Amino acid sequence: MIYVKTAEEIEKMRAACELTSRTLGEVAKWVRPGVTTRHLDNIAREFIQDNGGRPSCLGYEGFPGTLCIEVNETVVHGFPSGYELREGDIVGTDCVAELNGYHGDSCYTFGIGTVDPKTEALMRVTKESLYKGIEAARAGKRIGDISNAVQTYCEHRGYSVVREMCGHGIGRSMHEDPEVPNCGRRGIGPVLRPGMCIAIEPMINLGSKNIVIERNGWECRTRDRKPSAHYEHTILITAEGPEILTTFRYIEEALGIAEAQEETTPEATPTNN
Ligand code: MF3
Ligand code: CO
Repeated sequence: MIYVKTAEEIEKMRAACELTSRTLGEVAKWVRPGVTTRHLDNIAREFIQDNGGRPSCLGYEGFPGTLCIEVNETVVHGFPSGYELREGDIVGTDCVAELNGYHGDSCYTFGIGTVDPKTEALMRVTKESLYKGIEAARAGKRIGDISNAVQTYCEHRGYSVVREMCGHGIGRSMHEDPEVPNCGRRGIGPVLRPGMCIAIEPMINLGSKNIVIERNGWECRTRDRKPSAHYEHTILITAEGPEILTTFRYIEEALGIAEAQEETTPEATPTNN
């Protein structure tokens, strides 16, 4: 069942999403060659706890980190480890924080130093596809409209969409209904209504769409070991349009990137169609 949040719940979602976003901003300050992914994870855990939150993934069905760490061919659910990031790597850091009973979920893929131009383009298109998906998330439309927007944007540019992993509703639980696939037909699936909160998270591969789950039952990588990118925002459906509750602003401040493209806001998007 899909929950429609009350005004009070939406305020709590905002706060949880703000904490999640600030946490990734702290992580971004440390992303560089030589740093271990475990260090990034410690930064995230301490920041969430110091700000009165709880790392939602830590201990979730036995998951061993605050962050899911996605180095190069890792698609999702990688474990923090002693691996030291190297020039040319990409690393996704997927973070879920709980604050006052509500969860915020966001993911950003970083390049370490100079990254292969094809991989750089994969990251850019994946991030753009997230905003295409968000743009499609309008009251009265359906989940399939989001899925189709992400899929067509990526596939037209020659990338492939991971099928097995999806976005999701989010609120009092990290994962709620509905599933939000990154591919599918327009006009299918549940109708979007004001007050719904969903996490949209394209996972896009440079090579084939096929993935393999490691023996630990968690870590998921591309079968061909080519890179995969992943970006995620938690959004709220409003009558006026999608509102992005998480933000990459803190990350981009930390990286010294001025991000012009950020964020579809209800005011900034035409709604009269
Ligand atoms: N952001 C991931 C998701 O949307 C978080 C998974 S956390 C884990 O599913 F605990 F399941 F690893
Ligand atoms: Co998610």
